[in-house]
Amino acid sequence: MRIRLNGTVIERRAVWFESGKVMMIDQRALPHRFEVAELDRHEDVAEAIRNMTVRGAPSIGAAAAYGMALAAMENADIEGAAGLLKGTRPTANDLFHAVDHMLRCIRSGGDPLSSADAYANDIVDRCLSIGKHGADLIRDDSKVMTHCNAGALAAVDVGTALAPIRMAREMGKDLFVYVSETRPRLQGMRLTSWELRNEGIRHAVIADGASGHFMRKGVDIVIVGADRIASNGDFANKIGTYEKAVLARELGIPFYAAAPVSTFDFSISSGESIPIESREESEVTEIEGRRIAPEGVKALNPSFDVTPSKYVTGFVTEIGILGPSELERLRGR
Ligand code: MRU
Repeated sequence: MRIRLNGTVIERRAVWFESGKVMMIDQRALPHRFEVAELDRHEDVAEAIRNMTVRGAPSIGAAAAYGMALAAMENADIEGAAGLLKGTRPTANDLFHAVDHMLRCIRSGGDPLSSADAYANDIVDRCLSIGKHGADLIRDDSKVMTHCNAGALAAVDVGTALAPIRMAREMGKDLFVYVSETRPRLQGMRLTSWELRNEGIRHAVIADGASGHFMRKGVDIVIVGADRIASNGDFANKIGTYEKAVLARELGIPFYAAAPVSTFDFSISSGESIPIESREESEVTEIEGRRIAPEGVKALNPSFDVTPSKYVTGFVTEIGILGPSELERLRGR
């Protein structure tokens, strides 16, 4: 991804391996500071996933793949490392997909680091394909809405929902992106707007509660990412996605979820079985460490919601745009 830093432009991935360490852009510091975390123990990678130094389903998967590579290089207990990494966050399927992939590679005698690098490179290739397929959905002179961050930060590079937006812009299409702030962690405001600004793509941050207002005024397409997609096309994504999908249906706006095959969980038949992460109350009651809610007030903080497949116009995948009833075509890829 292109990053503008004090007048210079650098290219970086969200997660990579260098000099014996797993490197990752510390997403907690953005947009105010650009910091890179350097981790040389698999336990530290697990903690970085848990505390959201790295976040976004495909990036979490890549970080876990590198964590497994570190564990193998440390001669640590591989099964223990797999359990530790899998226990960090419950919702994003990519985490489990990546760890299982690495377990198979390591057990079959593959080089752990080459396998992790190949896993990360493969995610980026798949995101590029998602971008190519999805760009066709975006007309010239259109208004696009997205939620949370499903950009390069969330997907090693390029992005899932942001890939079609980047690609459409590269094709010379004029577009404007509504970015909902994404309370409580503000991934839209802090991360997506940072990425779009780096790319010079016109956009505005809006409060989550303003989405319906702007959709009614004229949004042409909604594209979001996904954290886990069930066989029937129900999918989990950042809290606040479901209401956008319902509104899109009401207003006749096409609603797409963009994701690589690593996000699909064919072991579950519907969204009912997707575990929803519940995070600390303080994420809701506090802003930047300062309590806003009255003392003693309880907060509920589900990090994801499930959108039923009936609201999905299509899934933008690396093999093309698939309707909810066509997802079987991805099985085994
Ligand atoms: O809790 P996060 O920040 O890891 O959640 C990420 C998301 O839910 C994003 O919406 C994203 O679309 C899915 S990953 C590309």
